[in-house]
Amino acid sequence: MSTDHSRGFGTRAIDHATRSPVVRQPGNSVPIYQSVTFVSEDAAELGDILADRQRGYAYARSDNPTAGALGDAFAALHGAEAGFVFASGMAAIHAALVSQLRAGDRVVATRALYGSTRTLLSSVLARFGVAIDYVSATDPGAMEAALEQPTRVLYLETIANPTLEVADLAHLAELGHRAGATVIVDNTFASPYLCRPIELGVDLVVESLTKWVGGHSDVLAGGVVGSAAHIAQVRETEIETGGMIAPFAAFLVLRGIETLHVRMDRHAATAAALAGHLASHPGVRAVRYPGLASHPQAEVARRRLRSGGGLLTVDLGTRDAAARFLDALRIPPRTASLGSIQTIAAHPASTTHRQLSDEELATAGIDPGLIRVSVGLEDVEDLRADIDQALTAALAPVAV
Ligand SMILES: Cc1ncc(COP(=O)(O)O)c(C=O)c1O
Repeated sequence: MSTDHSRGFGTRAIDHATRSPVVRQPGNSVPIYQSVTFVSEDAAELGDILADRQRGYAYARSDNPTAGALGDAFAALHGAEAGFVFASGMAAIHAALVSQLRAGDRVVATRALYGSTRTLLSSVLARFGVAIDYVSATDPGAMEAALEQPTRVLYLETIANPTLEVADLAHLAELGHRAGATVIVDNTFASPYLCRPIELGVDLVVESLTKWVGGHSDVLAGGVVGSAAHIAQVRETEIETGGMIAPFAAFLVLRGIETLHVRMDRHAATAAALAGHLASHPGVRAVRYPGLASHPQAEVARRRLRSGGGLLTVDLGTRDAAARFLDALRIPPRTASLGSIQTIAAHPASTTHRQLSDEELATAGIDPGLIRVSVGLEDVEDLRADIDQALTAALAPVAV
């Protein structure tokens, strides 16, 4: 390689260190394009790309090839026309909502909702003149009544956090469309392997890719999929608000996608075994798992989900019993996420839904003794034994 010694060391260093190799034989994984800026042929091309008159790359807050590859892969898995990916699930949810709403609009949202989404609606968007009504997604009469008034967005969760209520998306999407609403669904608990809401008539699907899709608790990411027209609006919102995913994060999520199907089958098989085991334990007040016949929406789950998934809940009756149970567990770390290789047990009332008052917790169906278990990839026998010893420790003082 020739070196032009008429230029100073600094100029030459920057010139040579920023030359991208031309690769005619693509690798088998998507390259991490760790670049914010991309070089155009001339000033006119740069202007056209930045103004979206021409496809291409100019600045990574609008488009980055690694992020784009993830957006396309995520859209393909959902059977959607287009997708766009974000730095976190909340950034994705924020952009999806803001892309559809303006002051004076009304949102109907399911009452069992992830805590931060509820706060985004009630404490952030409400400040900008958006009205929100919370309705049970599993009470069709209440939903129909709520959707009789003008509604700009119907916001749902496929499997609700943390109650694991399963929404009949095809029916609800129809109700929402009849009311003229854009139907947005958070599909985080299901992942595209269990459910593809676009195929059921939903307009926009949002997901925290931090959970099952990333799968390893090592990357924060979010995604939105839908029609090309909707995703163009979502992308425009992101360009002005800046929730773009980092290229390395996009790479990690792409890697997660490669094994999603294998992991989800194992998560679900172990979760089903543990749910059955817990349901027969005399000290447990209630077990909820979408794959159990006793689940209130078992029939909807059977028709709409590939399997029961990796999440179950156990109700131990009181906050104290729940705390004793969590402290006695030896395998799950004391943390508050889900959708990882590690089993994670969490107390929603004091962690993921801490923003809700006692009254709001009660109306959202989140009992004080409720524990949400995200089942990992450990051996089922070890998890069963750990749960048994923790239940003994948690329930001993109240004599089972
Ligand atoms: C259902 C659901 N949606 C969205 C989010 C937000 O995702 P993130 O933490 O990636 O912003 C979470 C996080 O727990 C969640 O459980």
